[in-house]
Amino acid sequence: MNTVIADVKALEVLDSRGWPTVKAKVTLADGTVGAAAVPSGASTGENEAVELRDGDKSRFSGKGVLKAVANVEDTIARQVKGLDATNQRVLDEVMINLDGTLNKGRLGANAILSVSMAAAVASAKSLGLPLYKYLGGTEANRLPVPMMNILNGGKHADNSVDFQEFMVMPIGAPSFHEGLRYGAEVFHTLKGLLNKTGYSTAVGDEGGFAPDLTGNEEACELIVEAIEAAGFKPGKDVSIALDPAASSLFKNGRYHLTGEDSCDLTSEQMLAIYKDWVERFPIVSIEDGFDENDWPAFKGMTAALGNKIQIVGDDLYVTNTRFVCRGITEHSTNAVLIKLNQIGTVTETVDAINMCRDAGWNYVISHRSGETEDTFMADFAVAMGGGQIKTGSASRSERIAKYNRLLEIEHELGPCAKFYWKSMV
Ligand code: PGA
Ligand code: ZN
Repeated sequence: MNTVIADVKALEVLDSRGWPTVKAKVTLADGTVGAAAVPSGASTGENEAVELRDGDKSRFSGKGVLKAVANVEDTIARQVKGLDATNQRVLDEVMINLDGTLNKGRLGANAILSVSMAAAVASAKSLGLPLYKYLGGTEANRLPVPMMNILNGGKHADNSVDFQEFMVMPIGAPSFHEGLRYGAEVFHTLKGLLNKTGYSTAVGDEGGFAPDLTGNEEACELIVEAIEAAGFKPGKDVSIALDPAASSLFKNGRYHLTGEDSCDLTSEQMLAIYKDWVERFPIVSIEDGFDENDWPAFKGMTAALGNKIQIVGDDLYVTNTRFVCRGITEHSTNAVLIKLNQIGTVTETVDAINMCRDAGWNYVISHRSGETEDTFMADFAVAMGGGQIKTGSASRSERIAKYNRLLEIEHELGPCAKFYWKSMV
C-alpha cells in the first residue's frame, strides 16, 4: 500500500444528456487506480463554481471540456503528483490555491472535482475499504431515504408543468430496499394512471414522467392517487417532496406560472400556495420555493412552515459555506441540498455538511440533472449519514446506478444497516 499520487489522467466523456463532462483517473504509487466522473446541472445557481466549457462552437455547440481535461493533465497533475491521496484536505487546498479564483473559474470546478473524487476512490481501494467506509468511518451505516423523482417539469422537461420536481419519499418503509420498492411501485402505478388519462408517459431528464398536465396542482393530485392505488398510505408510508426550482420561474420580481394557474405571483402569494398545499397534500419537504436572491421569502416560509416540513435551500446556498452560514444566521431554511459540483471539491462539500450538522440542520445529498454512471454520490450519502438522497426516478440507468449501489451497500452492511426518517414535526 502506497497512496502517494503517481499519475493523473483525464478524458472527455458524455453525460446522460449527451453533453461532454470530465472523467479523471488517479493512479497511486502502489498501482491502484481510482476514477470519477463529474455531473452537470441545468437549473444552476448563479453562485455555483464554474463548469469550464471550451466555447469552441465547432464541437458540441461549444460545450466540449477539452480545456478542463488539459487542466487536469497539465497544471493539476504537475502539482498533485507526490501528494498523499489520503490527505484529502491538503490535496483539495493545493488545487483551490492553484486555481486562485473564488469560483474555480480558471481551472474549472469540473476539472478540480474530478481529481478530488478520483483521489478518494483510489485511496479507498488502496486501503481495501469500500468508499462509504473510507469517507465516513466504521460507523457509516445509515442508508438514505430517497427523494424519488416521479414527475418532471420546469427546465428538466418540455412540458406544461412549471415546478421542476415532484418526488415521493418512502418515509414509512422499514428498510432502504423496501423504500426503493415503495417508490418504484408508485412510479409504475403513476404510469398506468397517466396512460389511462391519455397523458404522455415519456420521461424527463431525471427519469420522472413529463406529461402536459393542466398545472402544478394536478401533479400533486395524481401522485396522491398513485400512492393510494399502489397500496400505500399517503403521509404515512409515502410522502411528497417538491423542488419548484423557483429561480427559473422568477422574472421582474414576480413568480410566473403558466397553464391553468397562469399568473404572476408575489413571494407572499407563492407562500400562500405552499401553505395551502402543505394542508392538502402529504408534503414533507419543499426545496427552492423561491428565487435564489429572495432571502426574505425563504425566512418567511421557514417561520411559517419550518416546524412542519423540511425547507431546503439548493440554488440559495450552492453548497457553499459562505451562503449556508448566512442561512443559518438568518433562519432562512432548515435544510441544505448538497451537490459536490456546486462547490468543486470533496473537502468543501464536507465543510458545508459539517456546518449543517453544527446547526442541527438536515442535509440531502443530491445528483444533478446531467449525470453519468458514476456512483460516488451513493457512497458519499452513506458516508455523510444525513439520511436523505435525491437521485432521480425509478428509470434511466444513470439514476438506477446510484440506487443499485445503495442496495449493494445495504446488503454488505447486513443487520448493521439503519434506515429511518426523522420528521420535522
Ligand atoms: P440541476 O437540477 O441539476 O439541473 O441544477 C437539480 C436541482 O435543482 O435540484
Ligand atoms: Zn433544486
